[in-house]
Amino acid sequence: MYSHMISTYRDMFAACVIALLCLASMIHSAPQDCQDVIQPLDQLDPDHLEGRWPLVAGSLSDPAHLEFFRNRNSSSITFSNASATSNIVYTPSVSAGGKCFYKSYNVSLEGSTLTFDVRDQVNLTLTFLHTSCPDCLVMRFDNESKKVLRLWLFSRRREVKQREMEEFKAQVECLNMPPPVVLDPAKELCPEQSNRNSAAAQTVEKQEG
Ligand SMILES: *[C@@H]1O[C@H](CO)[C@@H](O)[C@H](O)[C@H]1NC(C)=O
Ligand SMILES: *[C@@H]1O[C@H](CO)[C@@H](O)[C@H](O)[C@H]1NC(C)=O
Ligand SMILES: *[C@@H]1O[C@H](CO)[C@@H](O)[C@H](O)[C@H]1NC(C)=O
Ligand SMILES: *[C@@H]1O[C@H](CO)[C@@H](O)[C@H](O)[C@H]1NC(C)=O
Ligand SMILES: *[C@@H]1O[C@H](CO)[C@@H](O)[C@H](O)[C@H]1NC(C)=O
Repeated sequence: MYSHMISTYRDMFAACVIALLCLASMIHSAPQDCQDVIQPLDQLDPDHLEGRWPLVAGSLSDPAHLEFFRNRNSSSITFSNASATSNIVYTPSVSAGGKCFYKSYNVSLEGSTLTFDVRDQVNLTLTFLHTSCPDCLVMRFDNESKKVLRLWLFSRRREVKQREMEEFKAQVECLNMPPPVVLDPAKELCPEQSNRNSAAAQTVEKQEG
C-alpha cells in the first residue's frame, strides 16, 4: 500500500517534469521558429529577378492603404536591367478604377536588400525574405525607422499552392502584421509598360508597389 503510493507520486513527478520540459521547450522554440520564418534571403541571383512578377497576396500595416489595396484589380512589379545590380529599374504597376498606374524607379540591390535612389525620396527599404517557393518573391517594405509597412507575396504564377500560402501567412504572423489580402487571379494584369506608348503609360502611381 505504502510503496504503491510512492510509485504513484514518482509517476506524477515524472509526468510533471516531462510536461514542464515540453512547455519550456515550446516557449523556447516559438521565437526561434519565427526567426527562421522571416529570415532574409542570403543569396539572390539578380538574373532571377528579371521580368514581371504578379502580386498574389499582401499584408499592410496601415488601414488607409489597405482600403486602397482592396480596390485594386491586380498588381505586378517588373524588374529590368537586373544584372546591373546598382542600376536596376523597378516598375510597380497597379490596375485600379479601370486604369493602369505605373512608376519606374532606379534601385540597387545589395545582398537581399533593394534601396531606392535618394533623389526619388521614397525612403523605403525592400528586403527579400527566404521562401521555399521557387518561383515566388517575398518582399518586406520597411520605413526609415525599420518598421514593417508591407509584406508582399509575388509569384511568376497568379496563384500559389495552399502550402505556399500557409508559409506566407506564417511570415505575416511572425511580423505581427494583419492577415493578408489575396488578389483575384482571374483579374487581368496591366500590360507591360515597354509594350505601350510610354507617354500614355506614365501615369503616376500612389504607392511604391
Ligand atoms: C543598366 O545598367 C547599366 C550598367 O550599370 C547602366 O549603365 C544603364 O544605365 C542601366 N540601364 C538603365 C535603363 O537604367
Ligand atoms: C476591374 O476590372 C473590371 C473589368 O476588367 C472593371 O470594370 C472594373 O472597373 C475594375 N475595377 C477596378 C477597381 O479597377
Ligand atoms: C534612372 O537612371 C537613369 C540613368 O542614370 C536615368 O536616365 C533615369 O532618368 C533614371 N530614372 C528614374 C525613374 O529615376
Ligand atoms: C524622405 O526623406 C527625405 C529626407 O529625409 C524627406 O525630405 C522626404 O519628404 C521623405 N519622403 C517621404 C515620402 O517621406
Ligand atoms: C515608420 O512607421 C511607423 C508606423 O507606421 C511610424 O510610427 C514611424 O513614424 C515611421 N517612421 C518614419 C521615419 O516614417
